[in-house]
Amino acid sequence: MSDYIKVKNPATGQVIKEIRINSEEEIKEKLKKGHDCFKKWAKVNAHERSRLLRNWSRIIQENKTEIAEIITLENGKPLSESLGEVDYATSYIDWYAEEAKRIYGRTVPASSETKRIIVTKQPIGLVAAITPWNFPAAMMTRKAAPALAAGCPFIVKPAVETPITTIKLVELAHEAGIPVDVIQYVNGSGTKVGELFTSSEYVRKITFTGSTPIGKLLIKNSADTVKHVTMELGGHAPLIVCEDADLDFAVQQALLTKFRNAGQTCVCANRIIVHEKIAKTFSKEFAEAAQKLIVGNGLDKGTQIGPIINEKGYNKIINQINDAIEKGAEVLAGNQFIADREKGYFFVSPTVLANVKLNMNIMHEETFGPVAPIITFKSLEDAVEIANSTPYGLAAYFFTNNYKTGTYLSENLDFGIVGWNDGAPSGSHIPFGGMKESGIGREGGLEGIEPYLETKYLSIGNF
Ligand code: SIN
Repeated sequence: MSDYIKVKNPATGQVIKEIRINSEEEIKEKLKKGHDCFKKWAKVNAHERSRLLRNWSRIIQENKTEIAEIITLENGKPLSESLGEVDYATSYIDWYAEEAKRIYGRTVPASSETKRIIVTKQPIGLVAAITPWNFPAAMMTRKAAPALAAGCPFIVKPAVETPITTIKLVELAHEAGIPVDVIQYVNGSGTKVGELFTSSEYVRKITFTGSTPIGKLLIKNSADTVKHVTMELGGHAPLIVCEDADLDFAVQQALLTKFRNAGQTCVCANRIIVHEKIAKTFSKEFAEAAQKLIVGNGLDKGTQIGPIINEKGYNKIINQINDAIEKGAEVLAGNQFIADREKGYFFVSPTVLANVKLNMNIMHEETFGPVAPIITFKSLEDAVEIANSTPYGLAAYFFTNNYKTGTYLSENLDFGIVGWNDGAPSGSHIPFGGMKESGIGREGGLEGIEPYLETKYLSIGNF
């Protein structure tokens, strides 16, 4: 890698900005600064930390249009989605500005009259975050807000594809009054910075959103210094449509979860599993609606599907489609591409595949693109077996109006997030995270601040 990251607009392949890569010395220096300010930041009272977070959220909202345009320029998603992402990002700050004031301890009845027992929570120390390109604002604040609320300093390395959003958010945090060493960013390759973060004696916690293989490496490398980890990793979400489902609603929700951010989210439906009796009707309606989605530059009015982030992502999608077609899948919509490898832009039209079989790669590999494979099922037991036959366990969706079917599915699906007649379950108020190889820990909600806190227990004797 050269000394600069060339940040490209994925819709055109044009370089929009060059961002300087930090040297090893600079990163170590920043880690030290983050560590050195820990005690001071931890002592700032919770109401003041809350006030600073509210300031940050307000200033981000004042700059909402500019930030949304940056997101669209470097990530490619439609501007309407970027505007939504800014709101999603500040919702985490607003939530944790409140949670800062609710970090409670407790007293425990002692086993002897001469003792008193008090349990308290205290911040864990310097938190190092590695954030992804698919939600450059929201994934950063989802980590920064609980860390800062808990009293931890925070240092973040954004994805090389989307560093500009992070730089802007950190600058606004400083403008909001959060001390410069308390929230910092560094730029560089994931491998290099990951090594520096995991080997640093100053870092007490690593929080990461990204692929499962990288997550595993970060967990391994954190072992030597026994760091806490929160890992939000890959997914392969099933979406089950039962015989009694409200079909129009299921189609509309499936479109929402499948094609948000051009299918480039960890919680996107990756496999659509439909009861054989309604499969034909569902597939027809779904394919017709998918076909109508407008593909283009995220800055153009009306665009609903932006570009694929890069050539590697594009190749993976093409390979999965070709593999499925070779093994007998039928194309109901899409399978059209606008790409220029030289210029560096890649668009895939929303693609719907029917007659899908379990031996196709798309049924096992995360797609991260606008491709929807449809497979059918006969019994609920089959549907659950197909759904759970993956090492991932992040999100699952199902559509039914029968409470017994719904209860059976919700109890038997091995996923951290389950949407019952709901294709959009994300939010700052809910514990987001996965089972199995989809991760460790939860982000958001009441659970999302715990990973930034240590529990200390005080036993007072001689009463
Ligand atoms: C992700 O794709 O990692 C996050 C999606 C969300 O928060 O809804």
